[in-house]
Amino acid sequence: MKQQRPGVLLTRRLFPEVLQRLSVHFEVRDNPDDAVWTPAELIERLQGQWGVLATQGERIDATVLAACPQLRVVANMAVGFNNLDLEALARHGVQASNTPDVLTESTADFGMALLLATARRISEGERYLRAGRWHKWSADLLLGAEVNHSTLGILGMGRIGQAIARRAAHGFAMQVLYHNRNPLDAATERACAARYVSKAELLRQADHLLLVLPYTSANHHTIAADELAQMKPSATLVNLARGGIVDERALAHALRSGQLAAAGLDVFEGEPQVRPELLELPNVVLTPHIASSTRGTRLGMALLAADNLIAYHQRGQLLTPVKHPAA
Ligand code: 8YV
Repeated sequence: MKQQRPGVLLTRRLFPEVLQRLSVHFEVRDNPDDAVWTPAELIERLQGQWGVLATQGERIDATVLAACPQLRVVANMAVGFNNLDLEALARHGVQASNTPDVLTESTADFGMALLLATARRISEGERYLRAGRWHKWSADLLLGAEVNHSTLGILGMGRIGQAIARRAAHGFAMQVLYHNRNPLDAATERACAARYVSKAELLRQADHLLLVLPYTSANHHTIAADELAQMKPSATLVNLARGGIVDERALAHALRSGQLAAAGLDVFEGEPQVRPELLELPNVVLTPHIASSTRGTRLGMALLAADNLIAYHQRGQLLTPVKHPAA
């Protein structure tokens, strides 16, 4: 009798290469319409599945795990894994992987792009031009903030933070300061030309502050009214990490009152919903969570997630298991 192959669910529409690779090993159920499922729909589709290739949009928590006892492995197509309840996964003996490294460089490119667009008012300029408001050149038209030779503060100095630091220091002659749970070793600090400072000093010194730290319940709203009040009124804030890191209500207030010059946001607390106050402000650049979105990178992420499922099936070992943030 032919042995039944394990089932794998793809929660979102991915690339044909991914389906092809997984289909060699598994019975694959995918989501060609790219529908966004409710938790109940996800549970229903996960019935009897051995593995799932998920994205950060699906919460895999105690309720899902209790309702899907056959599930053995979650391959998250993201470097961040705040959508996974790690304690519940451990309790249920379910393994989990993420997709580090493959997205580092393109996400760092986007970080610089969002910083430049925000500081140099690129979206605002384009809206102004498209609205037919550009009638003459003026010496003070849309004056932005200097990026080159300014001070960049990076909160969260993992792989992406380091890749941004290298671009900023070596490409834009910026002075790079960072704050992290732990300082980097001396050689890595030298390669990034970055200096470790306290969070308070980072907030005080930064002309531009970039957030690239993993989201955990401990750093929920780690940038709120108090922190924003410590920043320079001329400063730019860029969030590439997760919406929950910033108190968006306080941010909107700071941007409206002139306490902060500008913000660039690729992530939002209730995404894809965006707080209406932010939509109305001219000094915010808003992008729809696309920091890793190049074809090569998104394909690389999806294939790494697929390879994790295959490796776990064949050898009982993940290639890139999630590492508990506290570890
Ligand atoms: C992903 C991200 O596109 O990797 C991450 O943590 O935020 C993005 O690169 C997104 O999470 C898809 O799951």
